[in-house]
Amino acid sequence: TNKLKLVKKIIIAIDGLSSTGKSTLAKQIAKQLNYIYVDSGAMYRAVALYALQKKLIIGEEFNKLKMIEALPSVKVSFVYNKKLNISDVYLNDVKVNKAIRSMEVSNVVSVVAAIPQVRQQLVKLQQQMGIKKGVVMDGRDIGSVVFPNADLKLYMTANAGTRAKRRYDELLTSNSNLSLQEVLDNINLRDHLDSTRKDSPLLKSNDAIEFDNSQLSKEQQLEQIMELVNSCLDS
Ligand code: CDP
Repeated sequence: TNKLKLVKKIIIAIDGLSSTGKSTLAKQIAKQLNYIYVDSGAMYRAVALYALQKKLIIGEEFNKLKMIEALPSVKVSFVYNKKLNISDVYLNDVKVNKAIRSMEVSNVVSVVAAIPQVRQQLVKLQQQMGIKKGVVMDGRDIGSVVFPNADLKLYMTANAGTRAKRRYDELLTSNSNLSLQEVLDNINLRDHLDSTRKDSPLLKSNDAIEFDNSQLSKEQQLEQIMELVNSCLDS
């Protein structure tokens, strides 16, 4: 006779500063469990791209009022790409995977993400993606605001040298002719803005498990985290 095996599905929230390996870890876990991975940062990046495209941001000037007014016509979504086994990011039905990773977007995204109305709209979407559970989401406020009842909350850290090297390696693999300094300045600026903003700043929730992966390979990291995940699934 077939035994009906009920598989418990959970929500895993991963937060932390930039370049702490959140998305790498989130993707690894999602693959192991056959869960959905949601890159919440990509959603903020898409809204920032919209602001640039519509010239709501020119140099230091940001017309926040116009940004807020435009929000009902800013549609951000993910579409699963079967061939590549990743989710493509769409801004109003245009694929923007590459465009949202540009330095132009990185330079303005934290200012866009600090607007409460922007957060409200995206958090609502993120919460809908978690309704059926079976989700791994990474960002800054996932354990604190998006899923305060997440089954497992991780707060990733890594020492400054490791974070700098990670970004440097990423830089080498891209075709851009950016300088290392430019990238590091951007990380530092975003970390500062993300941690000090009024609405949903990056913070470690009391019930989040802090995990420093500075000295770990990707494989070691996954092994250690899967122990936590499995004990969550068994409980
Ligand atoms: O990958 P990286 O660490 O560079 O950043 P990201 O995850 O792509 O996020 C880009 C930016 O979006 C962050 O610097 C935050 O300003 C914002 N963000 C946020 O405010 N809340 C989230 N849940 C995720 C990202």
